[in-house]
Amino acid sequence: MLKINNLHAKIEDGVEILKGINLEIKPGEVHAIMGPNGAGKSTLSSVIAGKEDYEVTDGEILFEGEDIIEDAPEERAHKGIFLSFQYPVEIPGVTVTNFIKAALNETRKANGLEDMPAKEMLALVREKSELLGIKKDFLSRSLNEGFSGGEKKRNEIFQMMMLNPKLAILDETDSGLDIDALRIVADGVNAFKNEGNAVLLITHYQRLLNYIQPDFVHVLADGKIIKTGDKSLALELEEKGYDWLLK
Ligand SMILES: Nc1ncnc2c1ncn2[C@@H]1O[C@H](COP(=O)(O)OP(=O)(O)OP(=O)(O)O)[C@@H](O)[C@H]1O
Ligand SMILES: [Mg+2]
Repeated sequence: MLKINNLHAKIEDGVEILKGINLEIKPGEVHAIMGPNGAGKSTLSSVIAGKEDYEVTDGEILFEGEDIIEDAPEERAHKGIFLSFQYPVEIPGVTVTNFIKAALNETRKANGLEDMPAKEMLALVREKSELLGIKKDFLSRSLNEGFSGGEKKRNEIFQMMMLNPKLAILDETDSGLDIDALRIVADGVNAFKNEGNAVLLITHYQRLLNYIQPDFVHVLADGKIIKTGDKSLALELEEKGYDWLLK
């Protein structure tokens, strides 16, 4: 589904951050990326999603066999790549539900589909919100206005489930995540996962990986993936930190 070959990227002013990333994600897989602060984890997710602050200087990003490096962020989203925190904006007067309805229909339109019939949309909103324990009054609140950390998280996972992307990239850098928020993410990911989609989960929390079973755990340090293993690697990192890998 996603294949990254020798990816190098820098920020606009010239500092190289990604220094030759290789990563392959197949349908049905969950990949976790861990690594020290400043390693380039969020940069990698932004570059996959196509954020314009970064310039790819070498390598390729293939999504379903197609090079997407020239695609705008919306085009990538329409092809089925979802990045959490993609819509952190506050939009007074636009409710949680209306925002996601518009986003979903925009994606359908880009893929040559009609708007989702209102009845079907309502059923979908109901199904996904119930699954995530989202109450009705939350759905009619203004997007992100005064949302707590946990509410933002819940809304993000709700957006993911509604849009039903092929590849979901979740960047769980927020050190403010409490146990409840971790559970929201975990329950959401587990409900979302199927044989046809994939998840790239960036996290500092080994604990999160107790709830979400990753197929692969990668360590990203100084712009490169320096080690790949299975779930036991996360446990080892929890115990020993990163130093033993960096020497
Ligand atoms: N837009 C930007 N402008 C300037 N520097 C940036 C920018 N984006 C990233 N960097 C720098 O690139 C490096 C990697 O940042 P990145 O956010 O990708 O790290 P990270 O692995 O996600 O770290 P953390 O675990 O703290 O979230 C850091 O030194 C950061 O300051
Ligand atoms: Mg980060």
